[in-house]
Amino acid sequence: PTTAARGADGVVTVAGLDVRDLAREFGTPAYILDEADFRARCRDWREAFEGADVFYAGKAFLCRALVRWIAEEGLNLDVCTAGELAIALSAGMDPARIAFHGNNKSTDELDRALDAGVGRIVVDSFEEISRLAFLADRRGVRQKVLVRITVGVEAHTHEFIATAHEDQKFGFSLADGQAAEAVRRIRKLDALELIGLHSHIGSQIFDTAGFEVAARRVVGLLVAVRDEHGVELPEIDLGGGLGIAYTSADDPQQPATIAASLLDIVRRECAAAGLAAPRLSVEPGRAIAGPGTFTLYEVGTIKPLEGLRTYVSVDGGMSDNIRTALYDAEYTVTLVSRTSDAAPMLSRVVGRHCESGDIVVRDAYLPADLAPGDLIAVPATGAYCRSMASNYNHVTRPPVIAVHDGEARVIVRRETEADLLALDVG
Ligand code: LLP
Repeated sequence: PTTAARGADGVVTVAGLDVRDLAREFGTPAYILDEADFRARCRDWREAFEGADVFYAGKAFLCRALVRWIAEEGLNLDVCTAGELAIALSAGMDPARIAFHGNNKSTDELDRALDAGVGRIVVDSFEEISRLAFLADRRGVRQKVLVRITVGVEAHTHEFIATAHEDQKFGFSLADGQAAEAVRRIRKLDALELIGLHSHIGSQIFDTAGFEVAARRVVGLLVAVRDEHGVELPEIDLGGGLGIAYTSADDPQQPATIAASLLDIVRRECAAAGLAAPRLSVEPGRAIAGPGTFTLYEVGTIKPLEGLRTYVSVDGGMSDNIRTALYDAEYTVTLVSRTSDAAPMLSRVVGRHCESGDIVVRDAYLPADLAPGDLIAVPATGAYCRSMASNYNHVTRPPVIAVHDGEARVIVRRETEADLLALDVG
């Protein structure tokens, strides 16, 4: 439901604002975030998962304004570091609505989560179970926890972002009995209250079969826990991971489709085993934050390479979007500051960093009359671009500009050289 539209003059507007004005006022590169789109996606998820809980995964992108939006839209929040927790708390997020994740939470992070009173901590190792119990006990609190289990699903996505196959760092394996053992240990500790099981199989997934297998296996462990301990755990969390369309070749599932299927599977599998259906939660990040943001760049040098392609350099690059270099991610790009009838020209959009892997869009068609100073936009950069941005080559990270109903405001400001120099205290 993006508000971006192209006028008769070829100029793109978003929330009624001309991208040329946005570039003049805020500079480029900039992430332009369509607030209406973001909020609509929050509502979509909440409505699709009626009777369940939606935790927005803050790792996709997090800042204070966004924390307020998700809270207003009735979503909860998943954080995985003290840094994300700090942003959430400073924006006034109710700690009871925060889930804390991570495979290597530090003692300091666990302390801070306990001090804040986060609603749930998803435990990921035996070491963490004992440490968290010790810290909670010392405060005289009983912390609600979920156990992250590795369900052994091969999600069809890039190796670095698939998380439920056996040979990786997250969770307790279901197959070798570690998950059942984690449940046993937690049940023996008064300071921890086991409220459920958690599974996250990966990210940018289009095939819902992986989620369905995961749901069945998680319910399988619920049944095993009931049989062994005589308790019915009240919750399961099936994580995030729903893919979005980066190019026209991508065909993502809708939240309502996946919700219907998961809620149905959990209900039926539980009924078959004589269990009351647990409360379900999910943790979408990319599917909420991704589609409604684009990166606005200004075209710099243009280098046609005879018989190959034209290299179009922009004023950003791998520091504001590492996903192309890191995951071979595919993006599209479009001229947004004017119209052009020129023939399409095979282009590679590259950044200004000192290496040839600095590619933003590997293959794209841009008009052959493209010129320095033109503005181009790369859509769907709301997830894992600003949040994974770096200062490589001492570039400053771009701002995030929220646009809504004809108004634009900076919600994360552009870094300055002074910000960077301030860190250098040698
Ligand atoms: N829950 C847990 C426990 C997670 O680890 C993740 C993502 C999510 C939820 C949200 O997944 P999403 O709905 O956004 O797919 N940097 C990579 C993605 C890493 C995802 C890590 N965990 C990328 O740029 O593709």
